[in-house]
Amino acid sequence: MLELRRLSVDDGPEIFQMLQEIPKEENGFGNNAHGMTYGEYKEWLSAKHQESLREGITDGWKVPTTTYWLYADGTPVGFGKLRHCLTDALQKAGGHIGYAIAPAYRGKGYGKELLRLLLRKANEMGIEKALVTIHLDNAASQAVAFSNGGVITDRTDERVLIWIDTKEK
Ligand SMILES: CC(C)(COP(=O)(O)OP(=O)(O)OC[C@H]1O[C@@H](n2cnc3c(N)ncnc32)[C@H](O)[C@@H]1OP(=O)(O)O)[C@@H](O)C(=O)NCCC(=O)NCCS
Repeated sequence: MLELRRLSVDDGPEIFQMLQEIPKEENGFGNNAHGMTYGEYKEWLSAKHQESLREGITDGWKVPTTTYWLYADGTPVGFGKLRHCLTDALQKAGGHIGYAIAPAYRGKGYGKELLRLLLRKANEMGIEKALVTIHLDNAASQAVAFSNGGVITDRTDERVLIWIDTKEK
């Protein structure tokens, strides 16, 4: 069974462990908790939790964002970030949604399901069309977006811009 659980200040060692397995940066997806001590991770959880409750934009990139863990049969296997709105900068790089699956669990269809469940959350938040921006050479992530109904509408020197209807996910 696959389910999303929202980041909580009570998250413990199993999420910490997963975050150590996902690289700090991969194809533009950042995992700031990689390499933290356990104490730093607990503080980071607290900051992330606050970030999801905030309203308004701090700068061109920092908008309120909610983090969700993907659990498969009770084990965390990946995570996603859902930005509540876009800025001009995020329309070119970043988009509404970013996601990653821990390396040991890739190639099992979890990436597709993670994005589908995040699109459902986006819809609940009132986002009818969600943007994902994906590096030109990131074939796996593009396949994940296409399988969820994504369509390339534009491209920059580095990324394709893919919009996805969030209804009926
Ligand atoms: C992108 C990512 C989330 C995909 O997760 P995953 O669980 O392996 O994906 P899935 O198993 O659901 O596979 C989805 C599709 O990608 C394809 N795929 C998987 N790995 C691939 C690879 N290395 N090259 C090309 N296609 C690949 C699968 O065949 C499948 O396509 P299909 O439906 O045509 O068969 C994962 O590779 C990852 O975490 N990458 C690092 C972070 C990242 O790039 N995030 C996205 C930033 S935009």
